[in-house]
Amino acid sequence: MKILVTGGTGYIGSHTCCELLENDFEVVIVDNFFNSSPDVVGKIEEISKKKVSFYEGDVCDKAFLKGVFEKEKIDAVIHFAGYKAVGESVKKPLMYYRNNLDSTITLLEVMQEFGCKKIVFSSSATVYGNPEKLPITEDFPLHTTNPYGTTKLMIEDILKDLYVSDNDWAIAILRYFNPIGAHKSGLIGENPNGIPNNLMPYIVKVANHELEQLSVFGNDYNTVDGTGVRDYIHVVDLAKGHIKAIEKVLKDNGVDAYNLGTGNGYSVLQLVNTFMEVNGINVPYKIVERRSGDIDACYASTDKANEKLNWHAELGIEEMCRDAYNFVLKNK
Ligand code: NAD
Ligand code: UD1
Repeated sequence: MKILVTGGTGYIGSHTCCELLENDFEVVIVDNFFNSSPDVVGKIEEISKKKVSFYEGDVCDKAFLKGVFEKEKIDAVIHFAGYKAVGESVKKPLMYYRNNLDSTITLLEVMQEFGCKKIVFSSSATVYGNPEKLPITEDFPLHTTNPYGTTKLMIEDILKDLYVSDNDWAIAILRYFNPIGAHKSGLIGENPNGIPNNLMPYIVKVANHELEQLSVFGNDYNTVDGTGVRDYIHVVDLAKGHIKAIEKVLKDNGVDAYNLGTGNGYSVLQLVNTFMEVNGINVPYKIVERRSGDIDACYASTDKANEKLNWHAELGIEEMCRDAYNFVLKNK
């Protein structure tokens, strides 16, 4: 089976390509390197010892995308390509609506034209907004608090409408919680430019002496130690969830959303302390004001993914901390 992976040289996409190859799928990647680099293609091939087909280009470019579908007989698509920075989306909403919606609509039109109606889409736990209770199940009310999140929710609606119009579609919407960590080889991982917004990339840069100290955003939340609690998931577990989702869409028509998390919540300080212990390195931090828009706690119910996809996360926060730091050490 041949899978088109849009955004396949990005953080989650690259790990998913490795898992696809490991499971004997053929992989075709499309990426415009907006947030990744060309050397990732070789690293995916080095890890898997297999070749991928790579096309550099923009998923919003219909003629380009049609060319890819003409050359390759695609059986199903995993659609990662998109912009993902919450803060930037508040400042540049049109950029986010244009890229995230345009890329998806263009892709779906081309898929329809070529009779390829199986897709796995990267959504986010951000579509649950500020949940009323925990753990979060897939039937919770959906609402968003920023343009990035709104693009994800709008795309979920587009996919649901598409299925209503044509029951031949098979669509899996994956709502990721907080992916962290890296491939154990240290060859691929997450390396944001500039000052990171997310917790683990920030911790890693402090550990690597690129930044002085971590600011912990608030210690007066209603949680185990007052700092924010999230459901961190190892990116390799997340990638494996995509294999199960692809197997599902190759088998069954329909449209369904699944949480991909571990079901466990860890606080900021629990994560920082584990990182220091596992890696034997100090991460200086100070407690500062809350970050606006943050919530106390967020973690998934993973029952649906366990039951319907036969998937569950296997790696714990120790492995997440170890592999995140290993990636940085290997790429110094
Ligand atoms: P990433 O930025 O590392 O990867 C996205 C890739 O898509 C990049 O390689 C980028 O160059 C490419 N891209 C963007 N727009 C494109 C376009 N128009 N045409 C071609 N390529 C394009 O991000 P990631 O962390 O791997 O996330 C992948 C997907 O998962 C995104 O849709 C993101 O919104 C979603 N998601 C990520 C997280 C997270 O914490 N990382 C959480 C929830 C959801
Ligand atoms: C954020 C996004 C979410 C996205 C996810 C990707 C928001 C509102 N949500 O989630 O849409 O899917 O990233 O991983 O931006 N923290 C610190 N210091 C830091 C950075 C973070 O204390 O320097 C704390 C935060 O307050 C939070 C926790 O660490 O309690 C996790 O933060 P972060 O990694 O940014 O993820 P989320 O906010 O959960």
